[in-house]
Amino acid sequence: MTDSPSDPPPATPSRWQSVDGSAYDHKWEQMAAAGHDPHGEVAFVQRFNPTTVLDAGCGTGRVAIELAARGIDVVGVDLDGSMIERARAKAPALEWYQHDLATLDLASGSGRRQFDCVVMAGNIMLFVAAGTEAAVVQRCAEHVAPGGVLISGFSLGRGVTVEQYEQWVDFAGLVVEARAATWDGDPFESPGSYLVSSARKPV
Ligand SMILES: C[S@@+](CC[C@H](N)C(=O)[O-])C[C@H]1O[C@@H](n2cnc3c(N)ncnc32)[C@H](O)[C@@H]1O
Repeated sequence: MTDSPSDPPPATPSRWQSVDGSAYDHKWEQMAAAGHDPHGEVAFVQRFNPTTVLDAGCGTGRVAIELAARGIDVVGVDLDGSMIERARAKAPALEWYQHDLATLDLASGSGRRQFDCVVMAGNIMLFVAAGTEAAVVQRCAEHVAPGGVLISGFSLGRGVTVEQYEQWVDFAGLVVEARAATWDGDPFESPGSYLVSSARKPV
């Protein structure tokens, strides 16, 4: 990787209001206690049978840690230091990087590291800095291996449209494969209130 976890935090802001990582986790714990499955995204990702996953905008590692528990090699990247710190404290054996997705360049030997799946769970497209969305999709796409998928789930009606997102995906050289309305895979009907997009990198 071009940057290490000890590098100074990147200057690019995001629209994510920094919260204490444990408070963020507590919210999910409460939802789980109320019967909400906190691992819908993981089950969705598993449909693609990846052996390697980049959790892009991993937060406190909610998705990455569960993927690892299910035997998948994961790397988590997030811009927010407190979120990454919490992820690292929960799962020190996993790979975590504090970095802006808009400039991400995970190195592997002389090339770029690539994954069977790059997943952006939890409205990442709505939280990255305004104007960097296309770069975020581009950088994430560059970390998808040929034949692999980029999966992103975000609320609609909050600034990013289906068409805009799919245009960024197209510019990044991926092919939109499916739209779902939920992480359970419910069929998407336009205009929709939530999109889970899957896009494939051609082999
Ligand atoms: C709602 S949280 C989702 C966290 C995790 N994916 C989950 O589903 O639990 C949104 C995350 O996006 C991260 N984020 C926002 N802009 C980012 C950027 N440019 N690069 C990396 N992470 C970013 C925030 O720091 C925050 O942790």
